[in-house]
Amino acid sequence: MYEIKHLEETGSTNSELKRLALLGAPSGTVLIADRQTAGRGRMGRTFFSPGGSGLYMSVLLRPISLADVGLLTTFTAVAVARALSRLGVETGIKWVNDLMINGRKVCGILAEGGTYEGEPFAVIGIGVNLKKTAFPEELLPIAVSLEEAVGFVPERDGLAIAILEELEAVDWQKAQSRAELMAEYRRRSVTVGRQVRVLPHGGEAYEAFAESIADDGALMVRTADGCTLKISTGEVSIRPI
Ligand code: BTN
Repeated sequence: MYEIKHLEETGSTNSELKRLALLGAPSGTVLIADRQTAGRGRMGRTFFSPGGSGLYMSVLLRPISLADVGLLTTFTAVAVARALSRLGVETGIKWVNDLMINGRKVCGILAEGGTYEGEPFAVIGIGVNLKKTAFPEELLPIAVSLEEAVGFVPERDGLAIAILEELEAVDWQKAQSRAELMAEYRRRSVTVGRQVRVLPHGGEAYEAFAESIADDGALMVRTADGCTLKISTGEVSIRPI
């Protein structure tokens, strides 16, 4: 089902795989790079991807309903958490797409959509910090490698295969399976029940209390004046207790 291609270096495995998708690459094409020179995260941020330090992988799924691309991030977070669980590593999920250990990020997920000859496709990018590395100053308080967090470095391609197996096992088209995935996402959430700072796309930041995760993966928050708001995009950071 999957065909894995290894690259020594690329700008971004997501960008490269989107390029291949536009040339007609089949569903299940997977790119893994040793390093990325322009790794990308959500909200236009960069994803630090130095050589030999992480798993930088993208998976092509097609055809797909574009409406599902947002939920793919949610379901992929659960799939990666399950793959890490197999190694004895338990992670929390910070809404929407970060896997966390002790308040620091070990993995980020970036799902992007596109269309080829009128048919939608999705590229799911997964970046896992594996080895202790010289994170840039601004990342030091927020990012961590598995080596630092749990004391060992999983073998990169073995972890990639475990993630792909978990992704394949996720039957997210079925209502029952979706419900189970959402239940696990909620169980792993480190955002719900916390005071958060919401930064909407192009809007002004505000403080709120994270109440719950809706069935479509959105975060429900309550503002200080008692309004309940549904957050589907944008950035949510957890306020220190
Ligand atoms: C985030 O932190 O907001 C998401 C980070 C996603 C990083 C992965 S690494 C493989 C793939 N290629 C990219 O350029 N980004 C994703």
